[in-house]
This record gives sequence, C-alpha cells and structure tokens, in this order.
Amino acid sequence: MQRSDFPALPAHVGIIMDGNGRWAKQHKLAVALGHRQGTENLREIIRHTDDLGIGALSLYAFSTENWRRSPEEVAALMQLILDYFASEIDELDEKQVRITILGDKEGLPEKQRETLRRAEERTADNTGLRLNIAINYGGRDELVRAARQLAAAAREGRIRPEEITEEVLAGQLWTRGQPDVDLLIRTSGEMRLSNFLLWQCAYAEFIFPEKLWPDFGVADYDAALAAYARRNRRFGGR
Ligand code: IPE
Ligand code: IPE
Ligand code: MG
Repeated sequence: MQRSDFPALPAHVGIIMDGNGRWAKQHKLAVALGHRQGTENLREIIRHTDDLGIGALSLYAFSTENWRRSPEEVAALMQLILDYFASEIDELDEKQVRITILGDKEGLPEKQRETLRRAEERTADNTGLRLNIAINYGGRDELVRAARQLAAAAREGRIRPEEITEEVLAGQLWTRGQPDVDLLIRTSGEMRLSNFLLWQCAYAEFIFPEKLWPDFGVADYDAALAAYARRNRRFGGR
C-alpha cells in the first residue's frame, strides 16, 4: 500500500524483531541462520517505511540482556552487525537515510564500534528517514545515563534541578530531537517491551503480530499500519 491508502500514519515506528530463534528451530537450522534470515526481510521493511514517508524507524537488534546468550550466538550476532552494514550502508546512504545507534557502543568490540561510528558519521547530514538501530541497548540504561548527566550538570551549576523538564530529560536520550514512538510492533506473539524505548513508548500503540520476525513481510507491516490508523488515541483526553 502507499501513503494515500492510510488515513493516518505514525511519525515514529518501533519494531522489536523477535522470533529468529523459533524460526531457525522450525526450519531445523542453526540459530545463527535464523538471525541472518531476519536481516533479509529487513531491507524491504526499511524501503517501505521510507516509501511511505514515515519519519523515524527504531529497530531492536541487541539488548543489554542479550549478552546472557551463549558465546556462539553472541558472536554470530556481532558478526551479523558487521555484515549488515557492509552490505546495506551504500543503499541506505544513497536513500538519504540517517542512521543513529541507540545503546552503549563503548560496550561493544572495537570492530563493531568502529563500523557503527562510521555509519553514523557517513549519514549524519542525510535528510531522509531517521533509522535508529538499538544495539547493546536498554531502556533503563538510557534513563540512568540521562540521570547521571543531569546530576553532573546540576553539580557543576550548568542547570538548576527545577529546570529539569520532560523536554530536558528527553534531550539526554539517544533519540534526542525525534518524536515519541507512535506505533510499537513486536513480532512472534510475545507481548512485552523487554526494556525497549521505555520513555519513548509512553503513549505508543502496541501491535503484536503472531508471525516470527523472518516471516514478517511488507503485507504484514501494512496490516499493522492499517490497524494503527483505526486506533482511537486519546492521550488522557475524552
Ligand atoms: C530476536 O530473536 C533477535 C534477538 C534477540 C537478537 P530471538 O533470538 O529472541 O528469537 P526467539 O525469541 O528465540 O524465537
Ligand atoms: C528482545 O527480544 C530483544 C531483541 C529483539 C533484540 P528477546 O527475545 O531478547 O526478549 P525476551 O528475553 O524474550 O524478553
Ligand atoms: Mg526472543
């Protein structure tokens, strides 16, 4: 579907790309291949987001809790980060996509950190879709960092505690300058946030498609967007 088919579109979509492990199991494949398959449909989802003129897309790729997985699986995911950017960065840059990494890059291996830093730097002046990729990301970690920065600013006399507003706090987050998440999609039937964009999802609409992430295609995305357009958003009003 195209932009004119939707009576309303979100300004910011968040996606928790879940179900790669179950997809691999279903197909009797190693879990790493499930994760790899999960980057194939991603290309189409990003293209469609861009074509629809949705301003921002945030993807949950690796949480601060995902370090608990086996060393083999973590290594496969880390390798996938390198492969993903190597194969996609040219098209993304050409499409004027501006990439922002949400999460603590310092906690990643050097190669990954450099790859992500270069992708952000190369696309920093692009004016199209804001593509946020959450890697080593935790919503609580993000808020703790914001609290620390504001406490340090207060101690140094750069801000008074009463000057700390919602806008000031939002300005300390990795998503600074971007709208709140309007629509949050989590695939695979799981219905939880798993520490993703806690602040930014305060008034998000949630949609939980049953499909596993590697099976989630543009038609499923359109269905979620159409369901979003039918929601009655009240923001506390009548
Ligand atoms: C989501 O797929 C991708 C990451 C967490 C990196 P999972 O690996 O969590 O898939 P399931 O939940 O085990 O099916
Ligand atoms: C959330 O999925 C993280 C990502 C999709 C990157 P998980 O599969 O890790 O979440 P839980 O453990 O089921 O809550
Ligand atoms: Mg999962």
